[in-house]
Amino acid sequence: MKRESTHLKILQLLKQDFGQPISGTTLASLCGLSRTSIWKHVQNLKLLGYEITSHPKEGYRLTGLPDALIAEEIVPELHTSWAGRHLHHFAQIGSTNEVAMELALRGAPHGTVVIAEEQTQGKGRLSRSWISSPRLGIYASLVLRTPLPLMEAHHATSVAAVALSEVLITIWTLPARIKWPNDILVNGRKIAGILTELQSDQDYTRFLVIGVGINVNHQPRDLEGPFRYPATSVALECGRTTNRKDLLVQFLARFENQYDLYLQEGFSAFLPRMELLSAVLGKRIRVLVGNREIRGRAAAFSPEGGLRVWDESGNEETIWAGDITRLEGME
Ligand code: BTN
Repeated sequence: MKRESTHLKILQLLKQDFGQPISGTTLASLCGLSRTSIWKHVQNLKLLGYEITSHPKEGYRLTGLPDALIAEEIVPELHTSWAGRHLHHFAQIGSTNEVAMELALRGAPHGTVVIAEEQTQGKGRLSRSWISSPRLGIYASLVLRTPLPLMEAHHATSVAAVALSEVLITIWTLPARIKWPNDILVNGRKIAGILTELQSDQDYTRFLVIGVGINVNHQPRDLEGPFRYPATSVALECGRTTNRKDLLVQFLARFENQYDLYLQEGFSAFLPRMELLSAVLGKRIRVLVGNREIRGRAAAFSPEGGLRVWDESGNEETIWAGDITRLEGME
């Protein structure tokens, strides 16, 4: 048995008997290892944050799981064929997007995920920063290697926004809406943001990195400070702490499913849901496109996913990116 799978097998056996003792001899015979090797594996699991007691007569007893988005916790729960199958976990790094870009440059496979418990230089759109306090949120970046025409790379952001909103709606029963193109709002407050970066060969993407930041267990004190937009978290909206692993696993499954659907059926399959989930369609908005400000009404999405805006002089313009503020309440 490979070292990694032995490690997972021991963990699985300990989890099956959570809180109950299992002897070193039993573990050794079930894994085909010596008791000394079992002891070494158990020491490594403890270093990862698993609470395991050992007693000479009883054996090992798993009493607590780490609150960390490590492969040992995520991979056994994944219902995906590619998303998250290669997972890199960091206790603290600058930015998961930066590391995912580097890994992608070195050939990391489609679906590779980089996760951090804390980012010291989390990046938001438009050169903003993304506050990434330790263990409160999900800070994850996903490498996509399916070449897309450069002009359509923004579709991947929309697919991620739809997938994440639908997970928050269906499983966490939150009224999530998309503030086009990349913010997820709940009750008018920002709960998540998406930052897509890419490398291209001429007119096609070589790879994309979809960075997702979700406020999960933030309390009001964690959301004070330099947030540009009123912010909220899953815990605040649901009134209880949320398991970050469950949310990440659900998001990866839905994203994989929806991204494969997008590749098969094209972007038109997403438009009805983008419309349904939009926080801006039909509303009066102000959009900053570079230094230019457009005021008007968000009228519709174009078939390619641009936002059609009727400005105040009655002209229609399709925008492909921008920073939107709604001019009436963001319910
Ligand atoms: C935004 O709303 O402006 C986008 C925020 C994206 C934040 C995520 S957190 C994980 C990934 N790594 C980063 O540095 N940024 C993205």
